[in-house]
Amino acid sequence: MAETVDKMMAESVTLPLGPFPQFVTPHFEVPGIDQMDVYRAHGGYDTLAEVFQRFSPDALLEEVKQSGLRGRGGAGFSTGQKWSFLPPTSPKPRYLCVNADESEPGTFKDRMIMEVSPHQLVEGTILASYATKVRHAFIYVRGELPFAGDQMERAVREAYHAGFLGRDILGSGYDLEMTIHRGAGAYICGEESALLESLEGKRGYPRLKPPFPAVVGLYGGPTVINNAETVATVPAIVRYGAATYAAYGTAKSKGTRIYCLSGHVERPGNYELPLGTPLRTLIEDFGGGVRDGQRLKAIIPGGSSTPFLLPSQLDTPLDHEAVAAAGSMLGSGGVVVLDEQTCIVGAVLRMTEFYRDESCGKCTPCREGTFWLVQLLERLEGGHGNVADIALLADICDNMNGKCFCPLGDAATMCITSSIKLFHDEYLHHIRAHSCLVGPRARRASAMPPVAPASVR
Ligand SMILES: Cc1cc2nc3c(=O)[nH]c(=O)nc-3n(C[C@H](O)[C@H](O)[C@H](O)COP(=O)(O)O)c2cc1C
Ligand code: SF4
Repeated sequence: MAETVDKMMAESVTLPLGPFPQFVTPHFEVPGIDQMDVYRAHGGYDTLAEVFQRFSPDALLEEVKQSGLRGRGGAGFSTGQKWSFLPPTSPKPRYLCVNADESEPGTFKDRMIMEVSPHQLVEGTILASYATKVRHAFIYVRGELPFAGDQMERAVREAYHAGFLGRDILGSGYDLEMTIHRGAGAYICGEESALLESLEGKRGYPRLKPPFPAVVGLYGGPTVINNAETVATVPAIVRYGAATYAAYGTAKSKGTRIYCLSGHVERPGNYELPLGTPLRTLIEDFGGGVRDGQRLKAIIPGGSSTPFLLPSQLDTPLDHEAVAAAGSMLGSGGVVVLDEQTCIVGAVLRMTEFYRDESCGKCTPCREGTFWLVQLLERLEGGHGNVADIALLADICDNMNGKCFCPLGDAATMCITSSIKLFHDEYLHHIRAHSCLVGPRARRASAMPPVAPASVR
């Protein structure tokens, strides 16, 4: 282990649970932890009796607020604060929707939670529902994750059977129904308002906001929408207390989160680490460094919707504020490593194809913009572009950013604008050499004629 890990170990003497606590993934290595009896043998569902005895719903909400927990779905909004936005009274029932639609390229933590330890998500959902005084919770599972859906359905059935769901849970007087809903396979249904439309049986189009879901959400009732990892963290906050949880992380980004490490790295996987852990520690110490002895070229720190970072930024702490200061976003925690043999234009094309395919088509800038971005990137990557194409790419991104109906349009532009800024020469190489700079289709540019003057076709 490198210097940073040694430093974290040395500093951990003051930390209640050592340097690398597992709040979300404590027993994920235990065989059979997905089964009710094994889960309960490891303390599973113990928090329910404790909460019903010790906490009123408002007190539990306050505990979660004090823990500093922030949403793990992308935006990093304070969970306790979000819960407190629900109006105290409403003529309509209130709902909790757990967002397990996880489709962001590079992100695969919610899938692991559901497949490996589904009861933990059920337990967290019960606690979150109690704190928000919800009587019906929905868990929206990505359609392409059939095993995760099966695990969740079984866990919910078992929880009903054990008396953790239904009427008068553990004699507390609290009633809760829970429904697993499988999506049909659309990235846009992870956007919270499109998720609500989809749950209501309609086409997954985003809704205009305001009104926000806390006021007018599912079936018109006040609704909280939280990411699956966010909710699965709540049992640990109850078990260890808000202060212990908040002892980890940084001043504004508390606790731990699951980083999904993928790409050209020796040991890809999900790693639960304190927020603020340096990117270098994740990639080099936990991930074993760049695969096959290659050098690092770029990092996507928070899923495909976040701008690239460079190797010179490897010491950036993985917390919301530090990654933003470095010019990117922590997003959904999907850290993608790209080695020196990666054609950036090709990688950007692949990601943009994803956004084109997943654009719901409701608004023109995104529907048309993603189509034209792919056309241009295909031309450039294929070695048939010219310098005006780079300017045109940037112009289309500018016409999308902040001008689309929902954040998917903005997300689609991130990898393009940051690649033009950071890897401009690689775009020029494609134009000059009519080929990639690196990778299997690379050709040297030294013998090539200079770039032709800009002309718009
Ligand atoms: C296009 C798009 C896709 C999204 N996909 C997801 C997703 O799969 N899972 C998720 O939790 N949040 C996703 N989000 C964010 C949600 O809209 C929402 O902010 C989040 O579920 C709130 O949970 P949190 O506060 O616990 O982070 C997506 C947002 C957008 C714009
Ligand atoms: S930005 Fe894209 S995904 Fe969002 S509403 Fe417009 S077309 Fe649909």
